[in-house]
Amino acid sequence: MDLVNRREAIGIAAGFGAAVGLPAAAFAATGQKLEYPALLDATDARQFQLKAQSGTSRLRGNTASETIGYNQAYLGPTIRLRTGTDTRVEVQNTLNEPVSAHWHGLIVAGEFDGGPHQAIAPGATWTPVLDLDQPPATAWYHSHIHGATARQVMQGLAGVLHVTDGEDDARGLPSTYGVDDLTLVLQDRTFNRRGRLTYDVGMLQVMNGFLGNAMLVNGQSEATATVPRGLVRCRLVNGSNARIYRLSLSDAQPLHLVATDGGFLDRPIALGRVMLAPGERVEVLIDFTDGRDRVLMSDNIANSAMGSMMGGDSGGQFAVLPFAVDTTLPVRIDTLPDTVDGQLPDLSSADVAVRRLSLDMSMGMGMMTSRSGSQFSISGAPYDQETLNFSATLNSTEHWIVRGDMMMHPFHIHGVRFQVLSENGQKPRAENRGWKDTVLVAGEVELAMTFDKPAPSSAPYMYHCHILEHEDGGMMGQFSVV
Ligand code: C2O
Ligand code: CU
Ligand code: CU
Repeated sequence: MDLVNRREAIGIAAGFGAAVGLPAAAFAATGQKLEYPALLDATDARQFQLKAQSGTSRLRGNTASETIGYNQAYLGPTIRLRTGTDTRVEVQNTLNEPVSAHWHGLIVAGEFDGGPHQAIAPGATWTPVLDLDQPPATAWYHSHIHGATARQVMQGLAGVLHVTDGEDDARGLPSTYGVDDLTLVLQDRTFNRRGRLTYDVGMLQVMNGFLGNAMLVNGQSEATATVPRGLVRCRLVNGSNARIYRLSLSDAQPLHLVATDGGFLDRPIALGRVMLAPGERVEVLIDFTDGRDRVLMSDNIANSAMGSMMGGDSGGQFAVLPFAVDTTLPVRIDTLPDTVDGQLPDLSSADVAVRRLSLDMSMGMGMMTSRSGSQFSISGAPYDQETLNFSATLNSTEHWIVRGDMMMHPFHIHGVRFQVLSENGQKPRAENRGWKDTVLVAGEVELAMTFDKPAPSSAPYMYHCHILEHEDGGMMGQFSVV
């Protein structure tokens, strides 16, 4: 295989270690084949069941770790949903702590959103209805219990959603699950010396967000994705607690961006590098018609409240996922489509309400020694489940100007798709030109959104930093749409 040679592999491992400040884990492709989460196709049945459960998983090597998942021991099935219809859901909680199932990227009414107000008690079942009228997209689901989200997601309570209209063949897009349409959940995790999954976060990791010492894709480490000798669609989900990836291919071939969080672009954009912050998704096409193996790499991105202020490159790269071409696999699509028929947002009209938010963190000595004061807040207010921060008007459009403090923060809003109007006064970078629900704030962004679904004050929508330790620490707010 024409993957990564030994010297490069050592460099990659060293880079990974350097960025996270933990001993480097040796990178070696084991020759194990990457597997994909089970596909739960609800497009005909228009119903599905999830069960939050505990189990043990061999995520790395042979050591078993205690994990939690939906319908399985770690992560959950990929759920395919049809837009334009209702899907009835049952989420059962068999754990001995409350969990939820938040549909990150689905535009559903507040009562069905699965945030902290829809906590499912141990032994209880929650039955939301997902009434979708949004365009096709890759979304995801995860638990969202205030103060426990970071640990529960780290332990496995997350899965992927495909919203489909059944028209991908007409678009010329690969759509065979696990063959040329690959669902890839990127997560970094920490394993202790005995090989067990651990989440032992101190002050500094809470401050900067948790970074792991090993890379997992779909809950597997060091596996290789086998692909046909054609065009391959990768639905990349950043399910990490805090790690920001800047993805590229080892042989400098482009990643053809076709969709962002909220759905398709109008046409593919060829990019050398694609940034993916926690909570964000992209769909990229990779051309394997030359039959060559290549590796999906990531730059090490520094994002710390102490050292380099606005983040950036800490140098070096690490391997996210090696791809190996298997010529026995069927090639369905071998040419890049000219268009993918998405509608780019245009909500720039000036005559709308403007709201300003700041993502705040404090780092005074008191915060270092006491756990009582809240270190994270939005516009000075740490999250309080009993306090509604504001109310928006159903069907209205607003512009939000969001500033980030001390480091980069991936900012997410529930219940809407938004347009990034500007980043630090400039035109947004390519990854932010389509519909979004999460955007990396490195300075200031201006967003525009229309509130299409209601969220009463008893079931408000959240907005928060998607560095999960920041969210749990209070960098979150809630609003109603009435
Ligand atoms: Cu992905 Cu409020 O979350
Ligand atoms: Cu969400
Ligand atoms: Cu943050």
